[in-house]
Amino acid sequence: MEIVKQVLYSGIQPTGIMTIGNYIGAVSNWNKMQNDYDCIFGLADLHAITVRQNPSEYRQKAISFFAQILACGLDPEKSIVYFQSHVHQHAELQWILNCYTYVGEMQRMTQFKDKSIKHEENINMGLLDYPVLMASDILLYKAALVPVGIDQKQHIEITRDIAIRFNGIYGDTFVVPDGYYPTLGAKIAGLQTPTGKMGKSDADPNNAVSIIEDPDSILRKFRRAVTDSDPFVSFDLLNKPGISNLLTILSAFTDVSIESLVNEYADGGYKRFKEAVGVAVVEGLSPIRDKYNTYMSDKSQLMDIAKQGALRASHIAEKTLSKVKRKVGLVEKARLN
Ligand code: TRP
Repeated sequence: MEIVKQVLYSGIQPTGIMTIGNYIGAVSNWNKMQNDYDCIFGLADLHAITVRQNPSEYRQKAISFFAQILACGLDPEKSIVYFQSHVHQHAELQWILNCYTYVGEMQRMTQFKDKSIKHEENINMGLLDYPVLMASDILLYKAALVPVGIDQKQHIEITRDIAIRFNGIYGDTFVVPDGYYPTLGAKIAGLQTPTGKMGKSDADPNNAVSIIEDPDSILRKFRRAVTDSDPFVSFDLLNKPGISNLLTILSAFTDVSIESLVNEYADGGYKRFKEAVGVAVVEGLSPIRDKYNTYMSDKSQLMDIAKQGALRASHIAEKTLSKVKRKVGLVEKARLN
């Protein structure tokens, strides 16, 4: 008997940089996840145009992100990796689900409220409707599990609400997904402001480290990382957030427990410790950087992977979409062939 795996869906917007925080929290688990689940990964390029992008920069950035995802170990032979905008069913399902979502629910979303303040001059419909597009991403593929940052929890909850609501009216149609919130990555803080998250769109370039950053720049950022006034290396999130953050990063990149690292570096001073963290990160990222460069050196092969991904994704998406159309009473289109 064939064992049917559950579907795992995730997405990332191609904005800012893919940070070592993203890597530690999510991306580094993909290799393993691919064996346990049918993984589908969408580059959420429709989500990111809810804020203004420079078209040519944005296109380059989206391609670069796509290559970074592959470089991190998402294997296009095992998993589906694609651009959201290449699969028209997302936008189509979004329209239908819009008719089952209340304006009030969307206005209450914290991310909408935050972004409305930040982009006061451009509070467009897309910003409000963002969670319904995300719900469509997830529900099209009948995903059971959705790994995301904790900041996306509200969007997962609304996805569940929409799915339950629709199923309640029309009978079983959507799988109601569960969010999965990795604890480690969420804890990676900025190098300059270790009390806050290492954001992918941080204004201070020294606060975050990209997974494809060049080694010198990585070493420099770790040398400059904010520490504390006493010279001892110990783990104390409250009183020594900077050093604790560096310990978490070093532990993630070396697979050595924080306890052993504290033993090793306790009295050696910050300089030696920070150097060691920088070197471990450079070494850990080196195969990813190589793979990334290989993908980027052959754009036509890269785009071919994207095309195959989109074809496979749209095949699955179409099945769900036509079922939904039927359920709500839309007339079936005569087959064109
Ligand atoms: N909104 C998510 C974020 O910014 C990205 C995303 C878009 C996503 N569609 C998704 C994540 C579907 C999980 C599932 O992090």
